Amino acid sequence: MDSAPTTAARWLPAGSFEDQVIVVTGGGTGLGLELSRGFAALGAVVVIASRSAAHHAPFLEEARERGWRAEAHALDVREEPAVRAFFDLIAERHGRLDVLVNNAAGNFVCPADRMSANAWRAVLSIVLDGTFYCSKHAARIMRRKESATPGGAQLNVIATYAWTGMAGVAHSASAKAGVLALTKSLAVEWAAHGIRVNTIAPGPFTSDGAKANLWPSEEVEARIRDAVPMGRFAERDEVAAQGLWLCSDACRYVTGANITIDGGLSLGAGRMWEPGERRARPQRDGRLGQGDASVE
Ligand code: COA
Repeated sequence: MDSAPTTAARWLPAGSFEDQVIVVTGGGTGLGLELSRGFAALGAVVVIASRSAAHHAPFLEEARERGWRAEAHALDVREEPAVRAFFDLIAERHGRLDVLVNNAAGNFVCPADRMSANAWRAVLSIVLDGTFYCSKHAARIMRRKESATPGGAQLNVIATYAWTGMAGVAHSASAKAGVLALTKSLAVEWAAHGIRVNTIAPGPFTSDGAKANLWPSEEVEARIRDAVPMGRFAERDEVAAQGLWLCSDACRYVTGANITIDGGLSLGAGRMWEPGERRARPQRDGRLGQGDASVE
């Protein structure tokens, strides 16, 4: 393993999360793992929580090698009693909780008219119910007056289709829209307790999970890439960096906000022609001049 790990931490000041206790749900894979690595490299004690213990090993192993402080717990965010017990355990072990990242999600492409009630429920319960349960029980710990550091930051991972909608993922889009509304509601409710609640909305980024579940073929993947004004997918650490930033003291007056990290994809409806594609400009006498390939 290299001595200078490439993590999203490289864009923030060293020690930005020194000694903070941070929970990342779904923190062992994909974007969750990248966030966990970034927080740990910036000095935090990072607790990852996800259903599958098999997903814990890579982060724990890397943490051991790099001297990061890391823990992992098995947790199904859909089970409220288990979520309550998990946050009680965090309070008991660490006496504080500074940051919660609600990253755990479930998703698959399925046309709405063929989506069973169970399929709908599976995604809604992970994404919307799970986010609510974790937010509520994390806030219970964060707001404790006897804590040396009352307050904290919560970050919810959504998607731009929370406001645009998207064919094929009605369950996930509806759940993420709910999380967006939940975020703004909690931001106002909990501001008095010093708890900030924000979202990041990643566009497509390099991820095995998305490749397996969301892009049915190489052609679809290529088509999506072509639609991104910046012409490429994001790297995971480019996305994670914005999450770290929103949770850091640099954003201590920011709550109820969203940062979209999609290379301009969600603005793509305004992209009716490519730069350089324009009609020749009429000359003063009304005749057409030469086409101009310059970028507007
Ligand atoms: N297409 C259509 N329906 C699907 C499906 C798919 N790809 N995957 C699951 N379902 C349906 C199941 O058929 C079931 O409905 P049914 O009982 O009417 O048949 C329902 O969803 C629940 O599925 P199940 O696998 O029993 O639920 P689960 O709670 O164990 O897991 C997910 C649900 C979403 C977590 C699971 O599909 C999954 O593991 N997805 C991949 C991980 C993931 O989504 N990562 C995020 C990537 S962005």
